[in-house]
Amino acid sequence: MLNDSLRFHDGQLFCDSLPVSRIVDRCGTPVYVYSAARALVNLRRIASAFAWADARLHYSVKANANLTLLRCLVQAGAGLDVVSLGEMQRALLAGAAPGNIVFAGVGKTREELDQALQQGVGWINVENLAELEYLNRQGGGAATKIALRLNPEVMACAHRHVATGHGAAKFGLTASVIQNTLASRHLYSGLHVAGLHLHIGSQLGDLEPSRQAIRQALGLMERWPQLRTLNIGGGFPVAYDTRTELPDLPSFAQTLRPMLSDRPLLLEPGRAVVADAGVLVMRVLYVKEQAGQRFIITDAGMSELIRPALYQAQHVIVPLIEHEAGDCAPAQVVGPICESADQLGHNVPLPPLRPGDLLAVLDAGAYGMVMASNYNQRPRPPEVVVMPDGKTWHVARERETQEDLLRGERLF
Ligand code: LLP
Repeated sequence: MLNDSLRFHDGQLFCDSLPVSRIVDRCGTPVYVYSAARALVNLRRIASAFAWADARLHYSVKANANLTLLRCLVQAGAGLDVVSLGEMQRALLAGAAPGNIVFAGVGKTREELDQALQQGVGWINVENLAELEYLNRQGGGAATKIALRLNPEVMACAHRHVATGHGAAKFGLTASVIQNTLASRHLYSGLHVAGLHLHIGSQLGDLEPSRQAIRQALGLMERWPQLRTLNIGGGFPVAYDTRTELPDLPSFAQTLRPMLSDRPLLLEPGRAVVADAGVLVMRVLYVKEQAGQRFIITDAGMSELIRPALYQAQHVIVPLIEHEAGDCAPAQVVGPICESADQLGHNVPLPPLRPGDLLAVLDAGAYGMVMASNYNQRPRPPEVVVMPDGKTWHVARERETQEDLLRGERLF
């Protein structure tokens, strides 16, 4: 939704002090535009909601891995949560100290584990006994602590694709496996097993499952005092519309406070840092009335933003020029891709539109560009960052070219 950084001013959409249309004039469409200032405000909001705790924030790079944004967050003191060699490389390039990197993932390769140890990342979150054995054989790495990821077998109130803490999910280790592992910890004497990790889902709509999961983790930690640190993962929800009731950040933090105030915490927020800091700007290609519906066909679709197709996510879509609510009628905002799921908005209230008009999909800063694909052989869009001063902006990543699409491919 609109906020202090992405807002209407003088009748047009601004990103901090810049009219978004000025960026489009230079970069074309589709284009992702991010406000670094907004991401930093979000980071500070999360930090202050958990100010009562001994908490360290590790921004989850998977939500938005843009190097410029990462560097801004690292410079503001954030640690980073990574899940692959690629993300680790970005974290290091952005300037993160290895000790401030948490490395997680359900299927880490040996190469990735070796690199993590060699770099001396702060934590490895382990989800598999074979992974633990391998790390032990490699000598563990003096600088690296191990957290065991608990699968607490609770169902988060989240879309089924992003609920990760229920018994049928592939993630983590159940409490009994963790107990057995700790009981035979002499087998892992090369490792510094110092914490538990939890992440039960993303866009968490209810606090109770988190409470249950944390209670379970604390039960284990009481029995095994060498587990001092609890990493509670990410999942803080973001308001994509005004209709859905969601726990806000302060209440999220406050409900956990009585349980968690006396131990070191790690947090891995992704979406809550970057979602409302970004918009996807696109151009209307065609308007078509068909079967009683108004289709707005745009030059961005599920290849740029897959969230509506994959999770039935609803993003607010607005024209770049401010309009009266009274002028609006429902429209189907669809992309150019050959799939019926390629619809960015259903029944979106929009004013009359013509080819060439510009639209912005709001709250597209998280899980937007990172999930973009080349489906239908479409080059991925550029990413523009409006820097923390709110005035300077920079093309943080160029638009892909047709040559990029062919790179590495050989005709026989
Ligand atoms: N930590 C772990 C272990 C995770 O798996 C995730 C997200 C996070 C932290 C960050 O969660 P967040 O604070 O962003 O909710 N593509 C989906 C979301 C996938 C989330 C995957 N894991 C979407 O667009 O909604």
